[in-house]
Amino acid sequence: MIQQTLSIIKPDAVARSLQGEILAMIQKSGLRIVAMKMIRLTRAQAEAFYEVHKDRPFYADLVEYMTSGPVVCSVLEGENAIAAYRTLMGATNPANAAEGTIRRLYAESVQANAVHGSDAPETAAREVAFFFSRTEIAG
Ligand code: CMP
Repeated sequence: MIQQTLSIIKPDAVARSLQGEILAMIQKSGLRIVAMKMIRLTRAQAEAFYEVHKDRPFYADLVEYMTSGPVVCSVLEGENAIAAYRTLMGATNPANAAEGTIRRLYAESVQANAVHGSDAPETAAREVAFFFSRTEIAG
């Protein structure tokens, strides 16, 4: 099934100029980048995007970190794109991420873990629409 998923290259990775390497890994994996933008999230945007985590102990730090610098948001499309991108990212905690995954290669910690990817079809639809209008999805 062809799906779309939202990718965010997070502030820690953009600060280290890793967006080129990460986007190359995404393309080499066969996923197509059909929309992309670099933005700096406002506090309100970060709070809304991660609202599902608002009762977690790491929420305040997560919002602080996600607004600390620019991020690169993209929409990825391909066969089973949601699961395919999660496999390419590796586990949330880089200590548990498989060899060759983005997080194993580039994540600094469980919070500064280089990338975000949607975790299910409903979340992907919400997260894509959070950052992109239909006319901005060109690919
Ligand atoms: P992400 O996949 O974007 O989803 C929620 C984010 O919260 C996660 O990546 C991490 O950046 C962060 N996160 C998840 N678990 C923890 C944790 N235990 N401590 C700190 N940050 C976390």
